[in-house]
Amino acid sequence: MRKWNFCAGPAVISEEVLAEVKEELLEWGDSGMSIMEMSHRSKIYDGVATEAKQDFKDILNIPESHDVLFLQGGATHQFAMVPLNFGSKEASADYIVSGSWSKKAVSEASKVTSINTIASSEDSGFTSAPSPDSWAITKDAAYVHYCPNETIQGVAVHSPPTLSKPLIADMSSVILSEPIDVSKFSLIYAGAQKNIGPAGLTMVIIEKELMSMENESLPNILRYSKHSESDSMLNTPPTFSWYMAGKVFKWIKKSGGLDFFREQNHRKASSLYAYIDNSSFYTNPVSFENRSIMNIPFILADSNLDTKFLEEAEQEGLLNLKGHRSVGGMRASIYNAMPVEGVNQLIDFMKVFEAKYG
Ligand SMILES: Cc1ncc(COP(=O)(O)O)c(C=O)c1O
Repeated sequence: MRKWNFCAGPAVISEEVLAEVKEELLEWGDSGMSIMEMSHRSKIYDGVATEAKQDFKDILNIPESHDVLFLQGGATHQFAMVPLNFGSKEASADYIVSGSWSKKAVSEASKVTSINTIASSEDSGFTSAPSPDSWAITKDAAYVHYCPNETIQGVAVHSPPTLSKPLIADMSSVILSEPIDVSKFSLIYAGAQKNIGPAGLTMVIIEKELMSMENESLPNILRYSKHSESDSMLNTPPTFSWYMAGKVFKWIKKSGGLDFFREQNHRKASSLYAYIDNSSFYTNPVSFENRSIMNIPFILADSNLDTKFLEEAEQEGLLNLKGHRSVGGMRASIYNAMPVEGVNQLIDFMKVFEAKYG
């Protein structure tokens, strides 16, 4: 029996999508084989891949100025690929640190290029994010990098700034949760395993003009333009994850697109935050304007009750609510595929738990 999965990633996938995949698992169409067994260069697979790319572009309204890549290596690989391509010995790059992942991005990038951390909320224990108004962009910076949604701390920068420098964003845990203005970004990357599909796939949206600035001395596998020229088939792509992502894109379209998910995601997050804020037993430490709509951390008044909370939640079919090991407490990740009903059941359980032990 399927239960409510609040995992930060790999995360819940729509049951409708899973059922469709199950149906097709042994044989895709009348091809005589599973999609997993098919050459990525076959006509059938090419159709599946092209359609997925087009659906992704449609959903996010991606302008012609940008290309979409289906890569491997996770967001962590992008922590390296971005500075390798666009950092240089002469220029530096600006980074904003608003949580564990953007901090890690800095740590990786500083191995290959000179980094300016132009704003950080580390002193606040990452309970807020530096406002884009406070970002003091460096004159010779090659690009500006930030993480709009910090998955571990549940800290978000909700509106992207308009910058004269290339803006690069790690959208791993927020992509497809609501519409975005892609034209404001030169590069967006996201691991698929939260709002897109199974792990193994990394989405990159890249401004074509930016690719002309990349480091041409890198091996092809590290160059965005080489992936773009070969339609993300420079080498064997993660075919099954790509196929499944395509299913999720169709499901998003059918559900009403990103306007539908924005409304639903805000509704889910608002009801959980409202309950936490009205309770004297649970707290969310994040400043109001930086609260994530995807990852909601909360702590119990008495941390000695943490284990009991998790055990009893599990008995009620509410799984993976443990906060990240670096911050402790609890965290509910409520991506697109978590329905309103799941969040309501979580709130009902929290009420009962509070009444019992609070
Ligand atoms: C915001 C963010 N960036 C980067 C990562 C690392 O992603 P990956 O494991 O795909 O390298 C994660 C993983 O949870 C994340 O949430």
